[in-house]
Amino acid sequence: MGPYVAIVSSQVDQRVPDMKRKSKIILGIETSCDETSLAVLEVSDGKKVNFHHHDIYSQVEYHSEFGGVVPELAARKHVETLPVMLQKLLKKRDFLFENLDAIAVTVGPGLVTSLMVGIDTAKTIGLLKNIPVVPVHHLKGHILATELPDARVGGINTIQFPALALVVSGGHTELVLMKNHTSFERVGQTIDDAVGEAYDKVAKLMGISYPGGPILDKISKNGNPEKYNFPRPMSRHNTLDFSYSGLKTAVRIQLSKGEKFKKEDIAASFQQAVVESLVLKLKKGIEKYQPSSILLGGGVANNSELRNAFKIVSRGMKVPAFISPKRYTMDNAAMIAWVGYRTLDKAVQKSKFYLINANPNLPYDHT
Ligand code: KG4
Ligand code: ZN
Repeated sequence: MGPYVAIVSSQVDQRVPDMKRKSKIILGIETSCDETSLAVLEVSDGKKVNFHHHDIYSQVEYHSEFGGVVPELAARKHVETLPVMLQKLLKKRDFLFENLDAIAVTVGPGLVTSLMVGIDTAKTIGLLKNIPVVPVHHLKGHILATELPDARVGGINTIQFPALALVVSGGHTELVLMKNHTSFERVGQTIDDAVGEAYDKVAKLMGISYPGGPILDKISKNGNPEKYNFPRPMSRHNTLDFSYSGLKTAVRIQLSKGEKFKKEDIAASFQQAVVESLVLKLKKGIEKYQPSSILLGGGVANNSELRNAFKIVSRGMKVPAFISPKRYTMDNAAMIAWVGYRTLDKAVQKSKFYLINANPNLPYDHT
């Protein structure tokens, strides 16, 4: 790739931050998988956020021919892309750089070599500018993205605690109980494939390119969800765990029968099974933990059926729902900068930067 970066999503605000400010300005960096992203947020009094800058560069076109993310390729693309994105930020918004309070960077979970690109960049900027770096857990980003406004400037939707979060992405499917903004306890998880992974694998079986999730979601609108009775995985188990590999196999067996089929019907029936199984565990979790709110985040939270089903559960069980705005469901640096703000007390000063490392299996209670 040359110096040109095809930004898939970009927003730049030309307003100058208030220099007599009580606000904090945070640079967010996200490189945990196949999206390179940079964001600069200004947060005033913990109540209002201004997204001065937010770029996401997606690598999907490079990975699609392989049917999934190739870790080595992903890391190399981050190395190529991140400096170009930084250059763009500096050119347009150098005053933001002059006034940064901290840098927030994803340190895990994710692909280790990809994470290292973002971490190295964060430490280098931190050293040069003498500002601290906040290590951020990627899934906390997906969860706390539920607080962000669906606008360039807007109020924070502060979560009501205790909260039960459903995180659905390409690498994770989890139910997480939160007592406050810094207390995260995983109470359910997939025992095999993540839900986004299942979408992508089922799409691949039908010859649909990576990532197939959004395409299956789209075509399922023209399909019959009752056409195939795919299993609702783990529905009889009393735990809050999920499983999607059996559902994927059920689709594969159906396709291998050689019967004529419409992709739309397979997609709609598969999607119905997925959404029902997620809702079932969500309801079990609500009954068990009686949360004051429920949260939905991660790439699959983009899914139209799941968003609707989540709202129906919220109304039916009278628990307020916080759903990530669509623009912050996929991997992005705005959510990382936002967690950085929420956890500024975990900021690491430059003399301790050696403590910040990539951890592909980062636990929620990381330091
Ligand atoms: O959170 P994310 O951007 O990356 C990870 O952290 O994994 O999630 C990407 C996943 C992919 O598996 C993609 O197929 C899925 O989210 N996805 C969807 C939809 N949009 C993205 N799955 C179902 N329906 C969608 N509309
Ligand atoms: Zn993610």
